[in-house]
Amino acid sequence: MKILVTGGAGFIGRWVVKKLLEKGLDVWVLDNLDNSREKNLEEFTNNPHFKGLTEGDIVSEETVSGLFEEHFDLCFHLAAQINVQESLDNPQKAYEVNVLGTYNILEQARKYGTKIILMGTCMVYDIADCSKAISETHPLKPASPYAGSKLASENLAESYYHGLGLPVVICRPFNTYGPFQKSNMEGGVVSIFIERALKGEKLSIFGDGTQTRDLLYVEDCADFLLKAAFHDGSEGETYNAGLGTDISVKDLALKIACGEDKVEFVTHHHPQSEIPKLVCDYSKAKEKLGWEPSTDLDTGIRLTREWIASNS
Ligand SMILES: NC(=O)c1ccc[n+]([C@@H]2O[C@H](COP(=O)([O-])OP(=O)(O)OC[C@H]3O[C@@H](n4cnc5c(N)ncnc54)[C@H](O)[C@@H]3O)[C@@H](O)[C@H]2O)c1
Repeated sequence: MKILVTGGAGFIGRWVVKKLLEKGLDVWVLDNLDNSREKNLEEFTNNPHFKGLTEGDIVSEETVSGLFEEHFDLCFHLAAQINVQESLDNPQKAYEVNVLGTYNILEQARKYGTKIILMGTCMVYDIADCSKAISETHPLKPASPYAGSKLASENLAESYYHGLGLPVVICRPFNTYGPFQKSNMEGGVVSIFIERALKGEKLSIFGDGTQTRDLLYVEDCADFLLKAAFHDGSEGETYNAGLGTDISVKDLALKIACGEDKVEFVTHHHPQSEIPKLVCDYSKAKEKLGWEPSTDLDTGIRLTREWIASNS
């Protein structure tokens, strides 16, 4: 089996590559290293099943079509412009990478009959009804060009499934964290907090810290994507994945910080795009794919802390 991972040098992508190589599958990576580095793939370079990184842009039709001449059986499409603030500042980039880039992938997949695992996001859901966990049927309301462009890419992929018979599975993980996530402002809240705590700095909370997140450990996220890919009958479906419990950003900060005096509250950059409560209902993935998370938050934080401490 020949497998392409777009965005495979990135945080989640490199874990998907790792899990696929552990299964003895042949893996190619397409990534322009816009938000990642080749070093993330270093441990795979001597693996004969790792077929290398193509440093290229999914927005380039020429690059994508050239690579697809390999005739991939499966493509995990993770490459994306992921920064919410950047998408508010520059919606065009979110559109080009997330919509046009996905179109290029879908067109080549159609040519070769490649099954697509499309990486969506929980950021597409409406935040109005926060009383219960969010399932795949929850109303949608993208609140940033990032979320809007990701939803557009999902819709496009779904249209290739219904209209053109392309096998497509849409995966919507909730906030994912773990080793290899950036710990600067482009990273996730867990990595940012751990990095600051290790440096003895204050942990800054945007707003009052009551906003909650459902935090999914990255290896569980990668396992979810593989389950979605290799499960017969998953095509044409959308699946959520998360831990199934949420934690407020304030409580997360207190869990990671060394004392309450190490936590501070700062003005939010984009309160209009903030999501007050996010908790995942992953019962569909559990029932249909046999997937459920196996790493609790404390274990995930410990593993992430160990990685950041030994890599900074
Ligand atoms: N991290 C999360 O919490 C989370 C949650 C849900 C969904 N996602 C989705 O998962 C995917 C991976 O996100 P991540 O958190 O690993 O972020 P990431 O930025 O580490 O991964 C994205 C990768 O895509 C690459 N890339 C960006 N633009 C590209 C382009 N034009 N051409 C080729 N490569 C390009 C980047 O260099 C990076 O390696 C994204 O699709 C994101 O929307 C992430």
